Amino acid sequence: MKQLKIYAVLALMLTALVACNKSDTGGSGNAESATEAAAPSGNAIAFIDTRDDKPLIIDAALFDTPAAKEFLATGKNAYIGDEDAIAKGKKVFGLYSCTQCHGPDGKGQVGPGLVGPTFKYPKNATNKGMFETIWAGTNGGMGGKGIGIMDPTDPKNGITPDELLKVIAWIRTKGDGTTGNE
Ligand code: HEC
Repeated sequence: MKQLKIYAVLALMLTALVACNKSDTGGSGNAESATEAAAPSGNAIAFIDTRDDKPLIIDAALFDTPAAKEFLATGKNAYIGDEDAIAKGKKVFGLYSCTQCHGPDGKGQVGPGLVGPTFKYPKNATNKGMFETIWAGTNGGMGGKGIGIMDPTDPKNGITPDELLKVIAWIRTKGDGTTGNE
């Protein structure tokens, strides 16, 4: 019995070692390894996690509309200036309580303003950067809202990439006219 236990512990340690090695090779943090890591799921742009500047892997299958697919390929938000999409984005902003912390116009309340031109995380001036921030959250008080991240116990709960692009398109209408696609 005692021997069995020792074997079990050894096996666990071995698994842990293998796992460590794997994450070492994948996590060097530069853009090149991000592209490599993302390639199997078909990502064309490499997302970076706002929390730790490491590659952020998002399942390519979640990008299931033409606008979402275009974003995945180019990092550009096709919903900028699209009135229907912007109206939907405003609704989603309310639905996910963004309003409570960032104010009804995204100009700041408990949380910071989202309309720029300066941002706490400068990358949020781009649509790709803002997508990454809202998807996975920050270390300074905002949890990720992306589907599967917002509530790990319910993989269906959270904002889809298509909805998030609409939210961002709405936020951009409140700023100084810069679209984030520049
Ligand atoms: C519980 C309050 C809360 C909710 C709800 C919330 N946020 Fe935030 N948000 C924050 C706080 C606090 C920060 C600042 C985080 C930091 O400093 O790291 C922030 C930061 C941000 C930023 C980065 C701003 C910058 O200057 O770089 C964006 C973009 C953002 N939130 C968008 C959203 C959106 C969109 C939603 C809804 C889907 C949302 N937030 C919901 C509290 C919230």
